[in-house]
Amino acid sequence: MRVLVVGGGGREHALCWAIAASPLAEALFCAPGNAGIAGDAVCVPVAADDIDGILRLVRDERIEFVVVGPEAPLVAGLVDRLDAAGVKAFGPTAAAARLEGSKAFAKDLCARYGIPTAPYGRFTGLEAAEAFIEGRPLPIVVKADGLAAGKGVTIAETRDEARAAAREMLAEERFGAAGREIVIEEFLAGEEASFFALVDGETALPLAAAQDHKRVGDGDTGPNTGGMGAYSPAPVVTEEVAERVMARIVRPTVAAMKAEGAPFKGVLYAGLMIEDGEPRLLEYNVRFGDPECQALTVRLASDLLPALVASADGVLDMFDLRWHEDAALTVVMAAKGYPGDYAKGSVIGGLDALPADDGVTVFHAGTKEDGGTIRAAGGRVLGVTALAPSIAKAQRLAYKAVDAIDWPEGFCRRDIGARAIG
Ligand code: AMP
Ligand code: GLY
Repeated sequence: MRVLVVGGGGREHALCWAIAASPLAEALFCAPGNAGIAGDAVCVPVAADDIDGILRLVRDERIEFVVVGPEAPLVAGLVDRLDAAGVKAFGPTAAAARLEGSKAFAKDLCARYGIPTAPYGRFTGLEAAEAFIEGRPLPIVVKADGLAAGKGVTIAETRDEARAAAREMLAEERFGAAGREIVIEEFLAGEEASFFALVDGETALPLAAAQDHKRVGDGDTGPNTGGMGAYSPAPVVTEEVAERVMARIVRPTVAAMKAEGAPFKGVLYAGLMIEDGEPRLLEYNVRFGDPECQALTVRLASDLLPALVASADGVLDMFDLRWHEDAALTVVMAAKGYPGDYAKGSVIGGLDALPADDGVTVFHAGTKEDGGTIRAAGGRVLGVTALAPSIAKAQRLAYKAVDAIDWPEGFCRRDIGARAIG
């Protein structure tokens, strides 16, 4: 099979790394990829959201299967365009990607089908939003409806803060079109986890669960990021909790999307809040989490590519996946300043000196090669991922590798996995 992976972050490096190992992959391309991905796939400089460019690439390279990493091209209809061109793809259509592309759509679906989530209201007008805020307990959560690169959520401790967030979105267009409608919902307490399932329109096959660390600083302090590290399994997602998530959230959602005429295919990522073993949905994403995907792929013992193809073909009911018993942990190394302004172009050394066989894989998230030198080219730059018999051991291995990387302009959290280790 001639395969194309769309995207260029740590998630896509992990996907390319797994797909390159598949006997089913005869040729592997990535658009646009990065310096690390270039070790596993032929990188082509086409942006992930350049849908016409991707279609041209698919035609020119006679691609037979496309794996779409990020949400933006999914929401923009890349899979619909590939379908129309007769090319098989892993990921949802634009209609199904509304689960992530519109929080109001996702919340309404939950309300109609009895899927547990926080009570909410949806608003396009500021007055109604302010009235809703008035009558609700604090803290209260204000969310832009559309895609906002993880920045569209405000957890307001006061009503003033909530009103200001609503005003910025609705009246001042802080997130442009993505914030012309907002969702305001009650705050959920508990422990967060990311739950992943492969879906083929009808059948959902649970993958492993993971936990990520969204804040930039140790002890969950500072601003939100795309994710500073992850580990899998997630101790809070016991077998019993996983069964509840499947029975109350994932399977009802898959059935609901089918009933709504927009069957979901691809990976369904449920962002959960779990309190006393009871899972509730925070939000849906329609793609793998990043960095969670990096921790998941190294734990997967089965070949990933046939599972992705089975999702596209609608035959997941005949599928089973095997996992390593071992735990995986990913430490993200980011450019100093991230998630605010940061410099690009600094040199990263020490990558070649890492031992190849000690259970550590360094996924690249934002790197460029320049005459044999690896340079930082993004905010999140590397995902140092370790596989070991326990989360504690994986943590030690990962930080040992982090400390062997020579990149003074980078930083990482030093407490990834701490909650699971206790
Ligand atoms: P989202 O971009 O929707 O994942 O939200 C970003 C983060 O905000 C989540 O990972 C949660 O930590 C937090 N969050 C979102 N909604 C709620 C809620 N209703 N209650 C508590 N925390 C929330
Ligand atoms: N790690 C969170 C996300 O991928 O959205």
